[in-house]
Amino acid sequence: MKKPEAPLYINLAYESLIKRHAQNENPLGPSPKAREAVLRNIHSLSLYPDVVLTELKEKLAAKHKVSPEEIIVSNGSGAIIDYLVKRMMSDGENMVLPEISFVAYKLCAAIYGREYRLAPMENYAISLENMVWRCNGKTRLIFLANPNNPTGTIFTHDEIAEFLNRVSPETIVVLDEAYYEYVDDPLYPDSIQLYRKHPNVVILHSFSKIYGLAGLRIGYGIAKKPIIEELEKNRLPFMVGSIANIAALAALDDQEHVRKSARMNAEGREYLLKGLTQLGYHVTPSQGNFLFISFPTTRERDQMHDTLFANKMIVRKMEAFGDDRSVRISLGKTDANIRLLECLKK
Ligand SMILES: Cc1ncc(COP(=O)(O)O)c(C=O)c1O
Repeated sequence: MKKPEAPLYINLAYESLIKRHAQNENPLGPSPKAREAVLRNIHSLSLYPDVVLTELKEKLAAKHKVSPEEIIVSNGSGAIIDYLVKRMMSDGENMVLPEISFVAYKLCAAIYGREYRLAPMENYAISLENMVWRCNGKTRLIFLANPNNPTGTIFTHDEIAEFLNRVSPETIVVLDEAYYEYVDDPLYPDSIQLYRKHPNVVILHSFSKIYGLAGLRIGYGIAKKPIIEELEKNRLPFMVGSIANIAALAALDDQEHVRKSARMNAEGREYLLKGLTQLGYHVTPSQGNFLFISFPTTRERDQMHDTLFANKMIVRKMEAFGDDRSVRISLGKTDANIRLLECLKK
């Protein structure tokens, strides 16, 4: 019998049949305000977008209490990762990454022919100690996803504050906070405060996750003016579409939708963490909108994956992220989480 293979991107025609637990999307979708704004402005499809994105930058600047000049908006925060690697690194320099983390960091290193040095994890959490140990005089970039994708762990304010004091000010430390809205741990860093103190800190946020706008491709970064200028002057204009801009502006106005999404996610996270642990799985406690399950062998990992896939649930194997004995399960709505657990109980 042919082994079922899970496509990453499914045919939308099967949307109602297949449950997507593979992409860390918001199962509630975007705010109704964002949907309405998109429809209201649909006539503008033939027009080029606002090239400078003044309104959005001002809104984001006010939200984070920085100046609009410290904001870069692009077609997904992934694009900013790409710009950072492309523009900030020179020949002979390297970047330091956690061993199991977001695949795009390595991907960009490969695209631009840059060396990356991996820091071993500690119980599937990022070890800042190991990150320091992997740095040398040639380290130009450090990427730290917090919460870490795919393991869901966080480092605390005090831990990263100490780390920043130990890292060379010449090294850019990227705090990738694509999932920060899902965090409920009070020890989570106040990264803006750290950013004010350390000009080498860059913060990344995304509209793809809790804001539910992954299909529109929009995200942003916060960085000091020299870094923003370096990135801005070396990219093409019009990288952010008008509909993405409009949707993001409206989405920011609906913080109730953000809270509702975070609440539902936290409930699902608790439910599945408990349920899967009771079934004997090794689940890493998560602060994101996904859970990381590790197995003694790749075969056992495949069994879980294939069982779910045969029942029309797609979860993601983590080879590309640096581990071949784990899956990442994106949390769904309550009914989808129940269905997933029931399927594994059988
Ligand atoms: C840690 C992390 N950073 C950045 C991104 C990129 O998100 P986007 O380009 O959709 O804004 C992702 C997406 O999965 C992610 O997991």
